[in-house]
Amino acid sequence: MSFNACDESGDWPPRSCLAVVLAAGESTRMRSARPKVLHELAGRSMLAHVLSALEEAGAAEVAIVAGPDHEAIVDEAKKLRPGAIIAVQAERLGTAHAVLAARDTIAKGYDDLLVVFADTPLVRPETFNAMRKKLARGQDAVVALGFKAKDPAGYGRFICEDGRLQSIREERDATEAERGIYFCNAGLMALDGRRALSLLESIGNANSKKEFYLTDAVAAARARGFGVGSEIAGEDEVMGINDRAQLAAAEAVLQARLRAAAMRGGATLIDPNSVTLAFDTVLGHDTVTEPHVVFGPGVHVGEGARIRSFSYLEGADIGPNAIIGPFARFRPDTMLAEDVHIGNFVEVKASNIGHGTKINHLSYIGDASIGSGTNVGAGTVICNYDGVAKYRTEIGENVFVGSNSALVAPVKIGSGAYIGSGSVITGDVAPDALALGRARQIEKPGRGKALRQRPRKEPCPLAKEQVPAGTPASGSEKDGL
Ligand code: UD1
Ligand code: MG
Repeated sequence: MSFNACDESGDWPPRSCLAVVLAAGESTRMRSARPKVLHELAGRSMLAHVLSALEEAGAAEVAIVAGPDHEAIVDEAKKLRPGAIIAVQAERLGTAHAVLAARDTIAKGYDDLLVVFADTPLVRPETFNAMRKKLARGQDAVVALGFKAKDPAGYGRFICEDGRLQSIREERDATEAERGIYFCNAGLMALDGRRALSLLESIGNANSKKEFYLTDAVAAARARGFGVGSEIAGEDEVMGINDRAQLAAAEAVLQARLRAAAMRGGATLIDPNSVTLAFDTVLGHDTVTEPHVVFGPGVHVGEGARIRSFSYLEGADIGPNAIIGPFARFRPDTMLAEDVHIGNFVEVKASNIGHGTKINHLSYIGDASIGSGTNVGAGTVICNYDGVAKYRTEIGENVFVGSNSALVAPVKIGSGAYIGSGSVITGDVAPDALALGRARQIEKPGRGKALRQRPRKEPCPLAKEQVPAGTPASGSEKDGL
């Protein structure tokens, strides 16, 4: 059994903690083939958000309660937290019944039992810790999490006497007067691990839904003379997600949090509301992000870099002082060194780009490594895929790739080499060489004028125009040959 560390003030002794994550509910209102808790917020699943907050809160053991038809949830859980215990709730008989699907694990005897909902993904680790800290005082058997609802419809209500929580009433079972209460149950609960099982097992289903309600743990604790505590959270933090509109509302809350954190960390967002961040976006000091930029997962932007508008970046490590976009697209495994310039309509994927290299217009760079000081001209395309497999391209330092070139991988271009514009490069190019792979230009004196002056009815004869015999495949005066 593992323990969390003491808190900074040292007044919180190490306590073992089991978190039971409830995810067995049906997701009818989502109208989705995907289980609700696998829908994403800021680039990762709701379940991933919950598991990460629990990890930060020091919940060393986690049991995930899934439904019998929830293989996808089990797969995601195992991927995110390989040590997690998976419990299956065969029949959906309520939240207390769901917690008891993990009965054997609870019975091992932890100091704290945290019950959390996988469809309530915005709860901060600080809130879990506040609940656990209250339990650690030793008086309470249950600590419930409450919030003041703008509209309490659908939530369980906190029933208090003399300011002390006595029970939680589900809306369907509440009296008219109780429905007027705005202090609501967020659903999550911390229970004293030693008393939790007997409390949970004492809960019946004498209510309108004939379900075993976790919320009844409060009245059960009071009935035995145990203490009951509560913590308060903001409504935004405890929002539960049942449909797509709530998913979008949660995304907005999370984005606001992420943007605020980025700006606190020293990043400029010119129009924060138009920038979409991922849960793990790192924007270095003095970076500037212009309006309408989307960061997918796995982006790190080095100090002083500028991300221009309409760029879409995922899985990219961007070096200090780089200038990206507008309209740049980075796909996973993109690594840019310092001072790299990537301009408009440039897509980069699985490539390393060296210090000071410039790829400023209309290019595709895939599965490549490019040295420092290289210039890749407009319209350059790396042909990395032959319809069956992908191949790598290596371009050295201080290379000049002329505009509209196609580099057919696998291919190596040596440092200092020069590729003539419009070349299709299929073979390796030695360092400092000039490579050309294109048709030689021909010229027919006066022929342009004759074409322009032909009778209007005559079809255009250009298609039949002959290339003089003996014209070499490539090279011209302009290439310096
Ligand atoms: C619950 C609370 C309610 C609170 C609200 C906050 C109970 C009885 N009620 O109600 O007081 O105001 O949350 O959002 O706890 N689940 C299972 N198995 C089940 C039933 C539910 O795993 O048999 C899981 C769901 O997947 C979900 C969580 O438990 O993650 C909550 O269930 P839900 O049906 O949404 O409870 P609410 O009616 O919203
Ligand atoms: Mg709910």
